[in-house]
Amino acid sequence: MVQLLSQQELFVITSHPDHVESLFKAKPRDAPSLTGESPLRPILGPNSVLTTVGEQHMRQRKLLLPAFHGDAVQRYIEMIERVAEREIDRWPIGKPFALAPRMQAVTLDVIMSGVFGIEGRPAPGTVEHRIRQTFRRLLLASTNLLFELVELQQLGRPEPHGPLKWMIDLLDRHLYPAIRERRAQGVKPGAHDVLSMLLEARDEDGNQLTDEELRDQVVSLVLAGHETTANSLAWTFERLLRFPAAYDSLRELVRSDREEAESYVEATIYEGMRVRPVIPMVVRMVKRPWQLGQYVVPADTPVGVSIVALHHREDVYPDPHAFRPERFVEQKPGTYTWIPFGGGIRRCLGASLAMAEQRVVLREIAKRVDLRAPRPAPERTRQRNVTMIPARGGRVVVERKH
Ligand code: HEM
Repeated sequence: MVQLLSQQELFVITSHPDHVESLFKAKPRDAPSLTGESPLRPILGPNSVLTTVGEQHMRQRKLLLPAFHGDAVQRYIEMIERVAEREIDRWPIGKPFALAPRMQAVTLDVIMSGVFGIEGRPAPGTVEHRIRQTFRRLLLASTNLLFELVELQQLGRPEPHGPLKWMIDLLDRHLYPAIRERRAQGVKPGAHDVLSMLLEARDEDGNQLTDEELRDQVVSLVLAGHETTANSLAWTFERLLRFPAAYDSLRELVRSDREEAESYVEATIYEGMRVRPVIPMVVRMVKRPWQLGQYVVPADTPVGVSIVALHHREDVYPDPHAFRPERFVEQKPGTYTWIPFGGGIRRCLGASLAMAEQRVVLREIAKRVDLRAPRPAPERTRQRNVTMIPARGGRVVVERKH
């Protein structure tokens, strides 16, 4: 029987794989993403791949995708290894610390390198170093500042002011000169970084992207790309340390360098992202009446796909709360049943990079140190901006190094 839902101010949430498929396969104009209305918009700007819709969005995705494609990502692997090794070497033995900020230092270096083409951590005194520091400060401050933004939006005053405006202005004061300097220098032959690619890009009329367009893309990629990946890694360890059988299997395999190690590492990441997806929901606005199973959702209704609920469906993942990488060892995740990166034409642009970073960092940590959780109780989840993070940052103690 078909039921018609017709309440005002309706917000529909689903976690059914068939509904997910219909939304992710929809034409962009029929079910656009709501990221354009994100409270982050004043920081990201109007020209970002995250905030645009329709034709403009498709053009931007096409432009950016090659930089984050699997082959391009291969170039970063060695750099990620070096950054991870350096980071792990600094960890103290026997003293608890939170993994998330440590992972964030790694992922910030990786994304800065991908976007600006600098090797490793930028040297003090360089413009890239100042940009990195400002991003760090912006991120540290962003929780409170974003609450402020949400409030301003509710009051109908979406323009940032006060400390947030100060922070954005500071970032822009470093970013614009860096963009102008790079434009003046010209692109080096063979350069693969995002900024070089964007500087070379031309629209249909042969025009270059403006400084504002470049700035918005760069800010969006750095913001979208590093906190998510860092927290995803922190969660996977938070889970691993509470499921010793999986942690033991992982360590044994990576330390023996057996062939199966690669697939077990990957499966562990899939499982970590299944049980603790950092972004718990994606939303699409249906622009025409939408059939979801036995229901018809009226036009102009936001439909949330609950990634967390989908990933915990008993019919898809038996014993859903158990952490079992074996689920994914011989079976790749399903397009509409494993969706930590969302899907369709808004699927995460950095998914290949995020997977590569997680593979390398997880392997390095599992190989080089033995960790334990300072407390056996699981960490609760905490909402931070649009992400769901471990409440204590994924606290660990290094027992010994190898
Ligand atoms: C584990 C790490 C990550 C997770 C869990 C994640 C998750 C997501 C999700 C759920 C979306 C929305 C998809 C949708 O609406 O269907 C998204 C979009 C996006 N992500 Fe990621 N992401 C991660 C890492 C990255 C990285 C490393 C980058 C850097 C390039 C990145 C860049 C983007 C961009 C640009 C979009 C917007 C795509 C669009 O609207 O077309 N993400 N991500």
